Amino acid sequence: MSRKVTKAIFPVAGLGTRFLPATKSIPKEIMTLVDRPLIQYAIDEARAAGIKEFIFVTSRGKSALEDYFDHSPELAQALRKKGKTDLLDLLEDTNMDSGAIAYIRQHKALGLGHAVWCARRLLADEPFAVILPDDVIMNDKPCLQQMVEAYAETGGSVVAAMEVPTPQTSSYGILDVEDDMGSVVSIKGMVEKPAAEDAPSNLAVIGRYILSPDVMRNLGQTQRGVGGEIQLTDAIAKEMEDGRPVYGFRFRGQRFDCGSKIGFLKATVAVALERADLGAEFGTFLEDYIDQNSLQHTQTKAG
Ligand code: UTP
Repeated sequence: MSRKVTKAIFPVAGLGTRFLPATKSIPKEIMTLVDRPLIQYAIDEARAAGIKEFIFVTSRGKSALEDYFDHSPELAQALRKKGKTDLLDLLEDTNMDSGAIAYIRQHKALGLGHAVWCARRLLADEPFAVILPDDVIMNDKPCLQQMVEAYAETGGSVVAAMEVPTPQTSSYGILDVEDDMGSVVSIKGMVEKPAAEDAPSNLAVIGRYILSPDVMRNLGQTQRGVGGEIQLTDAIAKEMEDGRPVYGFRFRGQRFDCGSKIGFLKATVAVALERADLGAEFGTFLEDYIDQNSLQHTQTKAG
């Protein structure tokens, strides 16, 4: 029987250069979709999947992230005085149990694989989850919860996967599929960012993983790969070379790449339209705005 997954690593030590100049002083993970930081979505998803210990791999300039999870007694008291119980409840949801959260530093941005490896001493010989908060996945049943169920069935490492257009394979880790069983696929290899003509499929790995402790051991031996970084993909590929099973999991839900500006904007619109307090007004605004501006656009072209 597969062991329970109770620890998750959140690699948040990247430089976030695509969001400069904002990321000069704001960690990308603190940027908000309307009013909730990206990291809050990731934490909520992990909690729903039964995660009890949260390990953040951070770097210089990420102190706002640590502050975000601190209790804020002054703020709570001010809200209590004003009778703002709804806001108090909202704050309460961001509190973490004492000792449930750990921070570890990645001193150099040597890649995602290296960031995960930095957390090795906080794990026993146990399976663990990795969540990239940049990838926001919307679904009634959160993605990691779906994956924990797939892990319980298969017993092997599981990586979240989704189909991408062939010209985009060079932006992702791509799966070499052995047996396609529908939502679960068994895989025989993984290639980091292959050119379209070299891609073994168009099933791309995105930012959710449940990994066996062997992957952590492999990371300790992994050499720098694509881009001079230590690639998580290479450490997972080693599993298959060593004859251990790895599965791709086609999750249910819509994924937004919030590490890119366009993905972040799309997620913002999607979240705003879903909100009971904003959706109707924002939807009307968007329709009017598009109508007016496409009319102006047509007139300018005609003129
Ligand atoms: P990205 O490839 O999105 O890099 O990392 P980045 O630095 O965050 O952003 P850009 O490309 O400069 O805009 C994917 C995830 O891996 C983490 C990032 O924090 C992000 O969650 N990461 C990446 C690390 O923790 N350490 C690294 O050395 C690299």
